[in-house]
Amino acid sequence: MFSTSSAVALSEPELKLLQTLIYQECGMYFDERRTHFLNDRLQRRLRACNLSSFYEYYRLLTSREGKHELSALLENLTVNETSFFRNRSQLELFQKTVLEEILRRKQERRDWSLRIWSAGCSTGQEPFTLAMMVADALAYYYLRNPLPFDMPSPKPLIPPPWKVEILASDINYSVLRAGQEGIYLEHHMEAVDYAYRLRYFDKVGPGRYAVKRTVKDLVHFDFHNLKTEFLPQRNDIIFCRNVMIYFDEAEQKRLIKKFWRCLNSEGFLFVGHAESLFGLTDQFRMIHQDNGTAYSKIEA
Ligand SMILES: C[S@@+](CC[C@H](N)C(=O)[O-])C[C@H]1O[C@@H](n2cnc3c(N)ncnc32)[C@H](O)[C@@H]1O
Repeated sequence: MFSTSSAVALSEPELKLLQTLIYQECGMYFDERRTHFLNDRLQRRLRACNLSSFYEYYRLLTSREGKHELSALLENLTVNETSFFRNRSQLELFQKTVLEEILRRKQERRDWSLRIWSAGCSTGQEPFTLAMMVADALAYYYLRNPLPFDMPSPKPLIPPPWKVEILASDINYSVLRAGQEGIYLEHHMEAVDYAYRLRYFDKVGPGRYAVKRTVKDLVHFDFHNLKTEFLPQRNDIIFCRNVMIYFDEAEQKRLIKKFWRCLNSEGFLFVGHAESLFGLTDQFRMIHQDNGTAYSKIEA
């Protein structure tokens, strides 16, 4: 049982009920190491709802009227830490090897669409990093290879006939709104070097940077709960980094199976630095290069 002076006691059965509900709703699993965090967040929500017991709170969450509160609770439980250019060695593998291979293969087939999904995108730094890197990769590709069509003037960010779509999804509406806004403060910009700031951001105030419209137009933010079965299909690449770490093994296995179905043939999956597909699936092959890791889909 948990209780501190001003806190409402959380009994073991109440904790179990709430743990199970959260797991069923979003896949996040709060084991003993994270129960204190869970208790702290539950106390906050209980106060916000003016309720005096966790059983009452559980009843609210499972009622029709409790849908809003359930979203608010899940938002309070997610860890949204992120940054631009997170895990550079992996991003180098993405840009120099994976993208290069996909662009070459697609051009041969005259398939000009590229679809990338950032699943668990938080406040947008990951999908915007990917958008900037794709734009650079395409420019560099056509520096070395003839462009199959005339380049319009002024030169667009994405050379035609390519169509690049980056879907950025999360379960937390507040982070999705922040991503849609696309404005970042000086401390968010630490990993964004001078050249990237100049090309892809506008300074919109002291220490405030807005992602340029051309980059924003490549990224579409949307709500998706990775726990559900209906997830975005036909992706060439999926990034799901630092999300599965909060799921238990059974949920991780289910999610990897779903990602396999959501990828086009010859697609790639990127997971976080502290995550691995080892022992969880035989549907992906690991690629490891200069400290970066990715997984390529194995056809059935
Ligand atoms: C630590 S952040 C990772 C952000 C980014 N991918 C990165 O690596 O920098 C984890 C994100 O996953 C989201 N998340 C957690 N559970 C989720 C679920 N069931 N469905 C969708 N997103 C989820 C959280 O809201 C949070 O924004």
